Order: sequence, then C-alpha cells, then structure tokens
Amino acid sequence: MKIISAPDYQSMSRKAANIISAQVILFPNSVLGLATGSTPLGVYKQLIEWYKKDDIDFSKVHSVNLDEYCGLSGEHEQSYRYYMDTNFFSQVNLPIENTNVPNGLAKDIDAECKRYDNVITSLGGIDLQLLGIGHTGHIGFNEPDDDFDKTTHCVKLKQKTIDANARFFENASEVPQRALTMGIKAIMQAKKILLVANGSGKAEILCRSLFGPITPEVPASILQLHNDLTVVADEEALAVIRGKYPSAIG
Ligand code: PGA
Repeated sequence: MKIISAPDYQSMSRKAANIISAQVILFPNSVLGLATGSTPLGVYKQLIEWYKKDDIDFSKVHSVNLDEYCGLSGEHEQSYRYYMDTNFFSQVNLPIENTNVPNGLAKDIDAECKRYDNVITSLGGIDLQLLGIGHTGHIGFNEPDDDFDKTTHCVKLKQKTIDANARFFENASEVPQRALTMGIKAIMQAKKILLVANGSGKAEILCRSLFGPITPEVPASILQLHNDLTVVADEEALAVIRGKYPSAIG
C-alpha cells in the first residue's frame, strides 16, 4: 500500500488524475472503474483539462461505474449516470457506448446484477479502480455488514450514508434508500486501486480502514489485502494516520 499525501484538495485531485492519466497513456484501451461523490469531482475536472490540451485520449477506454441509486433514471439529476455524463463523459472523448453504470430502474434486480457482473467479466476485469470512501467505510455502496458481498447486489443504505448524501437532494426523504453496487470481488480483482479522500471527516475511517482489523464492518478494510493499492489523500484526511503511523505516509 502506498499512501501519498497532498497539501489540499486541488493537489489531491491533480495527483490522482496523474495516476489515471499515466494508466491511459500507457494502456489506451484500459478499463477504468469509476466512482461518484464529491471527492472525485476534482479528479474529473483535471482529466478534462488535460484532455482539452490534447494530453490524454479516452477514445479506446471502457468504463464501469461502482454504483447507482435504485429508482432513479439516468436523467434524474442525482443519479450517478447523470453525474458521470455531466461531470465527465460529455466533456471527454470516451465513447458513451463504452461506459457502464448499473441501471437503477431495472425491474428485475437480480438479472441486472448478473448483467453488470457479466459486463465486467466480458471487459476482462478492471485495470484501474478509482474509489472514494464513505463515512461508514463503504466502498462503492458496499455498506458495513456481517460478510463481504462479493458480486453486484442491491444494498439498503445506512442512515449515515443517507444523511451524508442528503445534501444533494431537496430533503433527506428524497434520498433513495437502496442502491445497486459492484461487489467486493470485482473491486478487489481490479489490477490497481486508487483511493482518494479529503477532509477531516474522513480521517478516522481512513485510518481504521487502512490499519484496523480487516472486517466487513469496515468494508474498505479489505483493501489492505490488495497488492496494488494507492491512497491519495489531503493532510486533513491523513491526520489520524499521521498521528499513529507517520512512517506509513510516503
Ligand atoms: P464523498 O462520498 O466523496 O461524497 O464523500 C464518498 C463515498 O461515499 O464513497
């Protein structure tokens, strides 16, 4: 595990974007696992800037997103399909037909979960998976549980997650209670994982995830077992790690 410190959000975003950019330059037909939430927004912004300068070409890239709210169509402004289209896909040359997000409106949830796992398998797995981390320690929407859910599945969101995401909706009652999420297996089978975190609100959970016991109660703790994990975080998010394990930060 490599932990890279950044002085602030902008620097965190640029460092993480550099890693994604290197991946796409070295391997133009990469399969990128992509994440939503407020943390990766700066990463997408930076990648768009470099694309506009002709420094990066996404024309052969495929993408698979981690998750989607149940019950929201791709046109709903808070759906993750809409987020990706607006904040990234529409601004770079990644062909829209190469992009994948679970279908939050699927009538047959089990069939949709199987379809999504098949999409990932048929692409040959994920080359680089970008991850944020939730306050519960979730990755994707893999929430704390008694065991690690391995494949794409429907999850009931924890109240803490609903509360955290309520800021994007008119009020908390509008936040969907359920979501479809890629499972731990596809995430862990990604060749490389890049986790981004910023802000003091993530400091405690980031430390527990990277240095605490590996347990499904802290889903991100499984990442300790991945052999190519890079964490890029700002100093606020690294505060607890810096206090307890200063030599771990590169
Ligand atoms: P955030 O969400 O980037 O909005 O904090 C992270 C996550 O829930 O994975």
